Amino acid sequence: MAAINKNAAQLQATIVGNKLVGQYHQILISVGDLINVCKPGNFVAISVGGPSSKMVLRRAFAISRVSHSSSFGGTMELIVAPFGQGSKWLCSLPEGSEVDIVAPLGTAFGIPTEPVQALLVGGGYGSAPLFGLAEVLKSRGCRVDMLLGASTSSKIYAPMEGKRSVNSLRIYTEDGSMGHTGRVTEPIPELISDLGIGVIYSCGPMAMLAAISAITKDTDVVHQCAVEESMACGIGICMTCVLPLRNADNSISMVRSCIDGPVMDGADVMWDLVGKNPLVQQ
Ligand SMILES: Cc1cc2nc3c(=O)[nH]c(=O)nc-3n(C[C@H](O)[C@H](O)[C@H](O)COP(=O)(O)OP(=O)(O)OC[C@H]3O[C@@H](n4cnc5c(N)ncnc54)[C@H](O)[C@@H]3O)c2cc1C
Ligand code: FES
Repeated sequence: MAAINKNAAQLQATIVGNKLVGQYHQILISVGDLINVCKPGNFVAISVGGPSSKMVLRRAFAISRVSHSSSFGGTMELIVAPFGQGSKWLCSLPEGSEVDIVAPLGTAFGIPTEPVQALLVGGGYGSAPLFGLAEVLKSRGCRVDMLLGASTSSKIYAPMEGKRSVNSLRIYTEDGSMGHTGRVTEPIPELISDLGIGVIYSCGPMAMLAAISAITKDTDVVHQCAVEESMACGIGICMTCVLPLRNADNSISMVRSCIDGPVMDGADVMWDLVGKNPLVQQ
């Protein structure tokens, strides 16, 4: 049975950077030695709203990357879309503010032991954990190509420094305001055969992850996806985040995406039953 990430710790951490990048806030948090146990794919759960807030649930954010600076020590970078009350509160915090965090949580992307051709696919702020992942894959000798997609240009998160960590980057917007016009999943079948892709890593809206799994079905391509199911506790207690997975014997297991995920094998997820009760559907 899965358990909470054994490296998870709760701490009061200081925000040392908060910069607007397109529609997103790039938030840098000083977390000290915790960076040594954070892996691409892990997430952080942040208490929002301050001590007198009615917002009791922590909000989950993918850890975009970790690094070490001489000024701040170990830092964790997040890419936050100001969406509802909790994320807007976080985005409004000035440098020097303290936040209560629990990290690292969840599973990490599997890193191949031998160099492979990897394709990274990000939708919206789903590109956040992929740049840190690209750096790790490159350091293992993998060729790394990246596709980023969103409905419109302001929702593309593609920082300059991130572009250097991939061999190629193609951008797709549905309204054509940046890069190619269309969905980010459209070029995937062609790229799989042209580049000999062995593994796809993806993060973004569930519909995008489902579409990639449909493409890789009946191929040898492994699809590791970071799912973003709604989470209330983030630590395996409340069962808000359950997802249906198909077992080898065709039975269905409901797993908690906060501790069995967020990174999962896309081939195991029963995408057409996500958000439904499989027992009622059968
Ligand atoms: C693994 C993971 C990674 C994520 N990474 C990012 C990221 O990198 N960047 C980003 O911008 N966002 C990310 N999100 C989304 C983020 O957690 C928030 O959902 C989002 O910011 C909206 O929160 P809000 O407070 O602004 O909106 P609100 O609408 O105020 O709150 C929505 C949040 O409350 C929870 N919630 C509210 N009511 C309930 C309830 N009754 N039961 C259960 N849950 C409830 C929802 O799950 C959601 O997290 C991620 C989510 C997950 C699960
Ligand atoms: S969010 Fe509570 S069990 Fe996963």
